[in-house]
Amino acid sequence: MTSSLSLAPTLSLAPGVDIPLLGLGTWPMNDEEAAAAVAEALRLGYRHVDTAENYGNERGVGEGLRRSGVAREAVFITTKFNRQWHSVDGARQACEASLARLGVAYIDLLLVHWPNPDQDRFVEAFQGLVKLHEAGLVRAIGTSNFKPAHLERLFELGLLPQLNQIQLDPYHRRDDLLAIHRRKGIVTGAWRPLGCGNAMLADPVIAGIAEAHGRTSAQVVLRWIVQQGIVATPKSANPERLAQNLDIFSFSLSEAEMAALDTLDRPDPTMLDADSFGH
Ligand code: A2P
Repeated sequence: MTSSLSLAPTLSLAPGVDIPLLGLGTWPMNDEEAAAAVAEALRLGYRHVDTAENYGNERGVGEGLRRSGVAREAVFITTKFNRQWHSVDGARQACEASLARLGVAYIDLLLVHWPNPDQDRFVEAFQGLVKLHEAGLVRAIGTSNFKPAHLERLFELGLLPQLNQIQLDPYHRRDDLLAIHRRKGIVTGAWRPLGCGNAMLADPVIAGIAEAHGRTSAQVVLRWIVQQGIVATPKSANPERLAQNLDIFSFSLSEAEMAALDTLDRPDPTMLDADSFGH
């Protein structure tokens, strides 16, 4: 059995609200898979779990939390809501439904899952988040998959997400968004950080750096992300890979290695586009 690892370092989202740099992603787990993975991850030392209404596994995440015996307050829980809730009232209903499914009294970070610009109600959805934050039902609020133009609409009204979670990995560097996030003090979250188990992990540049450190390609990719101060939430249902993915804080990449990984960015015509995709 793998023993527990040190906790991941945290990043400040707001005074008194710290998000662990490494968390467990839970898509596409069902309730039972999520319960087992969350319980195991928390046993290993994870203190951050990422779920969503759309994943259909919030009940499992709550069950895993209770099974683990780790105190609710020690765990950072992110969830997200769907397009049907894009209004001030809708955000409250979505939040209350997530709270009930998770079986918790508050959510650490609640995100608008996709901007869905076709219905053009993401501003109202975010205004709903502001109200939930004021009411103390959520500790921090943000967006997911917002592109520069969607963020600008919020900025024009003086609204500021504390985090924007986007697809990000060495093949998808997202420099345009990172520049905006830096300028505005928005924390970046990376979803699908391992490229969903695809060929990226076999990339010779990544594999070469991994070999030099006696680490795996997945660890090098995750280290490249967190070393930039970006939050990563890799999914794994496998106890060994869960442990491996958290064990990235006892080595670091050199400037030259970071720069080599920076060169891997490339166009991806299959990447989901938040102007046309959303739920
Ligand atoms: P598994 O659940 O069997 O570990 P992402 O978070 O980028 O979507 O990637 C998740 C995918 O990557 C899953 O298929 C997961 O499979 C796999 N995965 C997770 N951690 C590792 C790892 N350390 N090495 C290789 N594959 C991994």
